[in-house]
This record gives sequence, structure tokens and C-alpha cells, in this order.
Amino acid sequence: MSVKRYSIKILCMKNKIAFLQDKIKLANTGGGEARIEAQHKKGKLTARERLHFLLDENSFEEIGMMVTHRNTDFGMDREKYLGDGVVTGYGTISDRLVYVFSQDFTVFGGSLSETHAEKICKIMDMAMRNGAPLIGLNDSGGARIQEGVVSLGGYADIFYKNVQASGVIPQISAIMGPCAGGAVYSPAITDFILMVENTSYMFVTGPNVVKTVTHEIVTSEELGGASTHAIKSGVTHFSCTNELDAINHVKKLLSFMPQNCEEIPKQLEYQSRDERRIYLNSIMPENANQPYDVRSIIVELADEETFLEVHKDYAENIVIGFARLAGRSIGIVANQPAYLAGVLDNHASTKAARFVRFCDCFNIPLLVLEDVPGFLPGTDQEWNGIITNGAKLLYAFSEATVPRITVITRKAYGGAYDVMNSKHIGADLNYAWPTAEIAVMGAKGAAEIIFKKEITTSDNPEDKWLEKEKLYSDIFANPYRAAERGFIDEIIEPSETRSKLIRAFKMLENKVVNTPRKKHGNIPL
Ligand code: HXC
Repeated sequence: MSVKRYSIKILCMKNKIAFLQDKIKLANTGGGEARIEAQHKKGKLTARERLHFLLDENSFEEIGMMVTHRNTDFGMDREKYLGDGVVTGYGTISDRLVYVFSQDFTVFGGSLSETHAEKICKIMDMAMRNGAPLIGLNDSGGARIQEGVVSLGGYADIFYKNVQASGVIPQISAIMGPCAGGAVYSPAITDFILMVENTSYMFVTGPNVVKTVTHEIVTSEELGGASTHAIKSGVTHFSCTNELDAINHVKKLLSFMPQNCEEIPKQLEYQSRDERRIYLNSIMPENANQPYDVRSIIVELADEETFLEVHKDYAENIVIGFARLAGRSIGIVANQPAYLAGVLDNHASTKAARFVRFCDCFNIPLLVLEDVPGFLPGTDQEWNGIITNGAKLLYAFSEATVPRITVITRKAYGGAYDVMNSKHIGADLNYAWPTAEIAVMGAKGAAEIIFKKEITTSDNPEDKWLEKEKLYSDIFANPYRAAERGFIDEIIEPSETRSKLIRAFKMLENKVVNTPRKKHGNIPL
């Protein structure tokens, strides 16, 4: 009797396991083979394929595979898919724990239902509780139209959690397909956005609404494609050539970050060697107005092939990005003399300010390479708020408590001298190359103002002007006046810069700053 009962139990168990296996198989097919084929035909991977390439092999653990939506309107109770259009869970990238969600366009176009949102919120909560990064792979037609307001509520729940998580864990959004309407605001709150050229787009209102309201005729790609957001709006930090490129960028980006705000980024093995970079002694053009590409300095200073430029095609007059210095993660902010002479303008200021704040949130030390002729003058800049935008960068540097070092390579003029991580706003070490020029303004303009009378009353105003320009230049177009005051800690030979920086950042690794107690500051947004 007992034997018989035992075998029935086994049989039941077998059936139950088979039933489970069938369900898992079904869930793995998302919206079905035909829709998967359609996805592939568009040059897109499926939600699960993306996770396969993103995460370490066999590391993915899915959570919520059996979830289905609860909607009964419009006959939706007869159309349910396991997982409800989003694959969620956790896994590892280079052995580091990450939480992920990957929207499945093959199920109702990846649209966000109440339950779809609940799944994302669940792993966001887990990521926060366990202090690990959150990576979202977005591919969605937006709010699930059949669900109405509960879908909008679901979005707001996600936005709220994005804000709570901001500055606590790194959040990265890869846009792999459509991302429209209010849905764009979740990625916008996260730390980094990556888009894929030709297959992803982001906009608040699509081309049809644009045509109705403003009579503009524009394609989705022109309105909100990857290159539009990489070049014109700055919404995306990276424009990637295809999905695998985007996934590889996510991995590289993550390698510079710690797991959460309580940790420091992982230091890689580094064997000390000759750190002199002789080439840097001849990198500066003879003529101080001649441009050069600041990236050529960055690659000399950073560990080989570690520089990852962020926002490469936006506000090119400032270069920002991550690199490693003797195996340690650093964030770099550098004026770019090769573009608009490296002037600070509205876009450059906001671009750099947000980056500085990210680095400060996640304990990534900052290196500033300064060669700036000042803020860009003009009505366009003033009317678009250069006062407020420039103040953002000033505020971001001033409040940053991570180790901060500045190297003035050439020009440091006017307000831009103060703003670009000067000693006065809390930089730890300020170096200058012998080619540095630190003054209120360029010698030509300065001479014109302070020697106006002498120049205009002279028999030969042109010569007088040149003479006075030289006088001002002799006094101020060098780093020595600033060094006399201690505003510059050391004037260094360019070839020694890398070794100085390695030692200095090591010296600063236990830096502690006590800031005044407050609820939060009020950055000029
Ligand atoms: C429900 C949706 C859907 C949605 C697409 N689908 N979007 N189902 N809710 N929002 C379904 C389609 O019915 C179709 O189902 C499948 O997904 C694929 O859609 P297609 O249109 O065939 O694909 P494609 O031609 O590639 O076009 C993709 C698309 C288009 C551009 C995303 O589907 C589209 O415009 N969708 C509506 C977008 C939209 O207006 N969403 C609301 C935005 S407002 P079948 O069964 O045929 O496979 C919003 C507010 C958020 O999101 C506010 C937050 C605060």
C-alpha cells in the first residue's frame, strides 16, 4: 500500500515538474515565434538575448517569470503572457552583482502595465536594499493603452523609486527601441543613458503630435534618434552603433563605478613603471592661441586604453569621461581648446556639472585639465541662462567632497579660473604647467581697458597697445603670480604630471570632509 502511494507521488511530482518546465518554456518564448522573428528582422535582439550578452554566463536568476497582468477590459483577460512584457532579475557582470530589467517588445510592444511596473519596482527595491547597480534595457511602446491610469500610476511608482535610488546605487538605462511619452523620464532620472543608432528613439511627443501642434514634419529618427540626442539635446550620453556595442558600453561604464555610494570603485592591479611622459613637454603649441586636442593629453596621463569619453558629441568644448590612474578609477573634466577654444558656455557647463555630481555621489576622484579663455559672451548665451548654467558647474565643484586635483595647462582666465575647480572652491591640489596663464582676462583686452587713455592719446596707438599688452602679459601670462599666493601648489614639468597625479590621488585616498548639516542644497537648476 505504502509503496503504491509512494509511486503515485513520484508520478505527480514528475507531472508537476513537466508542467513547470512547459510554463518556463512558454515564458521564454515571450509573445511567440512570429513576433520574435519580427523583432530580429528589425535588427533588434529579444529581451532575453540582451540579458544573455549583458550578464556573466549562467549568472542570471529571473524573478517574476509567472507574473501576468490583471486587466479584464477590451478582452485582455483572454490574452496573457507569462512575465507580462518584462524580464526582471539579478545576475553578475565581471562577478559583480547587478539587478536588471529588460522589456520584451514581443509582448504588447513591451508596454508598461500595472504588473509590469510592479516587477520593475520589486527589483529596484532589491537593488536598493542590497546596494547594487540597476540596469534597465528599455524597449517599450509606453503606457499599456488598455490599462489607462493604472499604467500611468506604474510609471510614477518607477520615477519615484528612481529618485530615491539616485546617488545611492548607480542606475544605467540602455534604450534599445522606442521610449516615448512620459516613459522617457525614468531614463532621464538615471545616471547614464545609452541609445542605439537607427533602432532606438526617445521623445515626449512623437512626430504625429509634433505635426499637429507645431506643423513641423519630422521623422522619429530626426526627432529623437540616437544621434539627435547625442549631438543636439545631450539627452543620451552614448550613441552606440548596435545593441552589442551598447551592451559592451554598459559593461565598461560599470567598471569605473562602485556598487553603491558607501563603497569606492574597485582598484585594478597595477605595476608601477616609468611614469614620465616626455611627449607632454612638447605638446603645447608655441602660439598660445593655437588649438590642440586635449584628448592627446588625457591619453598620456591615463592608464593605457582606459579612457571612456562620456557625451562625446555634445558640447565638445568640454571633454568629460572616466579613466584609470595606476588602476584607480577617476573622472576627468577637461576644457577642449580644439573646439570653440575650450570656452565655457551653457551646454558645456551643464554637461560637466552633472558629471561632477555623479563622480561625487559615487566616490570617484576628479581630475580637471584647465585651458579656458573664459565664459562665452553674447546674447545667445545670456538669454539662455549662462549665469544659472555656469553657476551649476561652480556649485557642483564646490560641493564635491571627493579628492579633486586641477592641472592648469595653459589659459585660466576670468570667472572660468574660479569655476574650474580652483583652490578657492575646495580643490585639494592645484598644479600648473610653465605654460599656464592665470589672469582676469587676456593681455590684449586688459591693456585696452587699463591703458585706454595712454593708447588713444599716443602718436602711435597700435605700437602703444602692443607695448602695454606685452607689459600685462609679462606680469600675468604665467603661473608664478598665482603660485606666489599659494593658489597654485606647484608648477610642474608636463612630463612629470602623471607621476605627480598618481602620488597625489594616493595621498588623498582617505580624505574626509565635514559638510554643514542641511536637508539638501539648492543647486541653481
Ligand atoms: C498596448 C501596444 C502599445 C501600447 C504597442 N503595442 N504599443 N499595446 N499598449 N502602448 C502593441 C501593438 O498593439 C502590437 O501588438 C505590438 O505592440 C507591436 O506594435 P506595432 O505597432 O506593430 O509595432 P511597430 O510598428 O514597431 O510600432 C511600435 C510603436 C507603436 C511605434 C511603439 O506600436 C506605437 O506607436 N505604439 C503606441 C505608442 C503610444 O502612444 N504609447 C503611449 C504613449 S503615452 P500585436 O498584438 O500586433 O503584436 C505614454 C504615457 C506615459 O506612454 C506616461 C508616463 C508618465
